[in-house]
Parts: sequence; structure tokens; C-alpha cells
Amino acid sequence: MGLVDTHCHLQSKRFHDDQEAAITASLERLDWLVVIGDDVPSSEAGLKLVREQVYAVVGVHPYYAKDMDDAMLARVRTLAGEPGVIGLGEMGLDYFNEYSPREDQARAFHMQLELACDLDLPIVIHNREADADCYAILSDYADRLKGCIMHCFGSPAEYAEKFVDLGFYISFAGNVTFAKAQQLRDAVAVVPLDRLLVETDAPYLAPVPVRGKRCEPWYVEHTAACIAALKGVDVDSFADQTTANAHRVYGLTQL
Ligand code: NI
Repeated sequence: MGLVDTHCHLQSKRFHDDQEAAITASLERLDWLVVIGDDVPSSEAGLKLVREQVYAVVGVHPYYAKDMDDAMLARVRTLAGEPGVIGLGEMGLDYFNEYSPREDQARAFHMQLELACDLDLPIVIHNREADADCYAILSDYADRLKGCIMHCFGSPAEYAEKFVDLGFYISFAGNVTFAKAQQLRDAVAVVPLDRLLVETDAPYLAPVPVRGKRCEPWYVEHTAACIAALKGVDVDSFADQTTANAHRVYGLTQL
């Protein structure tokens, strides 16, 4: 099996001029990829990219939580029923960029968690500097959730263990390759191979050795090589394992 980019934003305006070329180039090297929404317009734009090997996740990022209301939730529910949608997100808490007040972030998070339980869809979590609150909220839902991905993991290893104990998957992005990211590499060490995922969060966080460039989904190869080395496994078996994990958490039939 090849690799999967479990999280990218190909609908971003940074792909405006060459979106189709970027998709084609990445699908030549990857098994499949997942385009993630941040709000209703970007979720709709992501849906337009769905095709063989391209799936979508729809939802409202904590940045936009203050705008969440019943009408917006109803819109997300409708989008979630479209073909090719395999999850809800990204949702969660961001206390580093508090673009929405914390109360609104918690409210929008709860609304989407209830929706995920109702629709029996896995979720993609954005958690930045909100470990304790994020853990408290998610642990209340863990038994009811179909699956959960801690996207672009950036918390201490202690929290990687706690989220794994809830049955969740831990997804690492290109920042794990950065020289100063020892905390992330410490987190990699405690995550079992059957709970690891790799992603790009493209167009952001291009990994070493392409750091600073616009990130492309296939750059997930660099992140995978870094983590495989940390885990002491060869790149091919790491790809097999993480791709099987991606199939499992997103509820796709093994090919
Ligand atoms: Ni993202």
C-alpha cells in the first residue's frame, strides 16, 4: 500500500491556480487523501473535489465558532450526507488563536460532537493549547464516537497517551520533522503503530526538506520517512500500517 494524506486543504486559495495539477501529482504517489473543511464555504469547496481517491470531511473550525448556530449546524448535517464525506471536522478548541471566545468554541464543539454521534461519523480534532479542556470534553463522548483523529498533534506525550487510551488516533504533520520539535518526537514514541496517522495539513507546515514551500499532499512522504525512522520500522511497512489505520478510523473498506 502507498501512503494516505489524512488531512489537507486543497480548496485553499493557495491552490487556486493549480488545484487540479496538485491533486493529480499527489494521487500519482498516494493511495488517497482527505480534504478537510474549516467552515461551510470551505466544506462545500472540498466536496467539489471528491472523486476516486479523494474524500471530504466537513465542519466548522474553532476559529469560526462564534458564527455557529442552528442553521449552520443544519447545513453541516446536509453536507455530511453527500457522497464522499467520511467524517466531521475540523472541530475543537484553539486557545492560541482565540478568534472566537472560549464559550463559543465549546458550544460549537459540543454541537458538532452531538452531530457526529447522531450521524455515526468519525471526527477530526483541532486542539491548540487547550489540552485539558479538549480532553475533558472528548472523554465525555469517547464511548459514543465512531472514531476520533487528533489532527496535527502538538501536545505533550502525556496527552498522546491519554487520547490513545480513549481509543483515538494521533495524526502527525510536517512539523514533527522540524529541528526544534523534540516534544512532538517524544509524543511519537508513545503512540502505538496501530494508532498513528500521517498528514500534511497542506498548504501549511511543509516538512523538512521542503520546509517553507507550499505544502503538497504527497510531501507526507517526508513526514512518514521521519516517523518510520523514529519508530525503527521500514518505510513500506510504515505506509501499510498507517494506511490501514486510516481505512479503519475513517470507516472505509480495506482495498
Ligand atoms: Ni487543517
